[in-house]
Amino acid sequence: MNFTGKTAISTGAASGMGLLFAQNFAELGGNVVLCDVNEAVLKEKVDEINAKGPGRAVAQVCDVRDYAQVCAARDKAVQEFGSIDLVCNFAGGAAFRMCGVDRKVVKEFPDVPIEVFDWGLDVNLKGPFYFAHAVLKQMREQKGGLIVNIGSIAGTEGDGYGMDYPTAKAGLMFGLTKSIAQYGSPYGIRCVCVSPGPVLTRPNMANMKTLLGRAAEPQEIIDLVLFLASEKGQFVNGENIMIDGGRNAMRRNFL
Ligand SMILES: NC(=O)c1ccc[n+]([C@@H]2O[C@H](COP(=O)([O-])OP(=O)(O)OC[C@H]3O[C@@H](n4cnc5c(N)ncnc54)[C@H](O)[C@@H]3O)[C@@H](O)[C@H]2O)c1
Repeated sequence: MNFTGKTAISTGAASGMGLLFAQNFAELGGNVVLCDVNEAVLKEKVDEINAKGPGRAVAQVCDVRDYAQVCAARDKAVQEFGSIDLVCNFAGGAAFRMCGVDRKVVKEFPDVPIEVFDWGLDVNLKGPFYFAHAVLKQMREQKGGLIVNIGSIAGTEGDGYGMDYPTAKAGLMFGLTKSIAQYGSPYGIRCVCVSPGPVLTRPNMANMKTLLGRAAEPQEIIDLVLFLASEKGQFVNGENIMIDGGRNAMRRNFL
C-alpha cells in the first residue's frame, strides 16, 4: 500500500487506534492531521511521526463536540496538504469510563449524571456527524473521499448501564454510515463503518469473550481501515464491518 499524495484526518489521535492509524498512514507515505483534546501528547506524537516520515503530520487541537473546532481541523488539512482523502473518526469511548464514573459506587443507569451521557452521545455520535457535515463540501469539490466511522460490538449488544455508548455506536454503524454513503456516492465519496470487538488498547479488554478466545491487537483493526482506503478496498461502501473475532456470532445463553 502506498498513500503518497493522500491526506487523512484522524480523530482521537493522541492515543490508541487513532494514533496507530496516523503512524501507519504516514509510514505508507500519506500526510495526516492528528486531532485530539490532549494537546501535549498530540504534539509529541506528531514530532515522532515527522522524524520518521516519509509522510508529514500536523497537530490540531480539536474537541469533536465543537463544530467550529471540527471546521478548523478540516481547514487545517486543506491549507497544509490541499485535500482531504480520508477522515477516520476514532475519538470515542464509553462515557462512564472516560469521565471517571466508578461503577462500584454509582451502581445504576439513572444515577449516573446526565452530563456523562451527554459526553458519550456527543463524542461518539455527534462528533462524526459534525465531521461529515464539515468535510463533505470539500470532498464534493474534490469528487472523492472516504469517511471511516468506528463503531463497536456494543452497538449490537446494548448496555443497561452505559446506555450512551451502544446508542451512539449503533447510530454510526447503521444510520450515519448508510446516509453518508447515499449522499456521497454520486460524488465518488464512500463511507464505511469498522466495528471492533475487544481491542487491546487497554489490557482489560482481554477479559471480553470472543469465538476466537482472544481480543484483537490494535494493528488488526488498522490493517482493515488501511485496506478500505487502499486501491484494493474501493468497492466497499455504506457497510458496517464487524471485526470482532466472531463475538457477534456467539450463542447467547439466556437460561
Ligand atoms: N478498545 C476497544 O476495545 C474498542 C472496541 C470497540 C470500539 N472501540 C472504539 O475505537 C475507538 C478508539 O478506541 P481506543 O481504545 O483506541 O481509544 P483511546 O481511549 O486509546 O483513545 C481515545 C482518544 O480520544 C480522545 N478524545 C476524547 N475525547 C475527545 C474529544 N471530545 N475530541 C477529540 N478527541 C477526544 C482521547 O484524548 C484519546 O486520545 C473509540 O471510538 C472506541 O469507542 C474501541
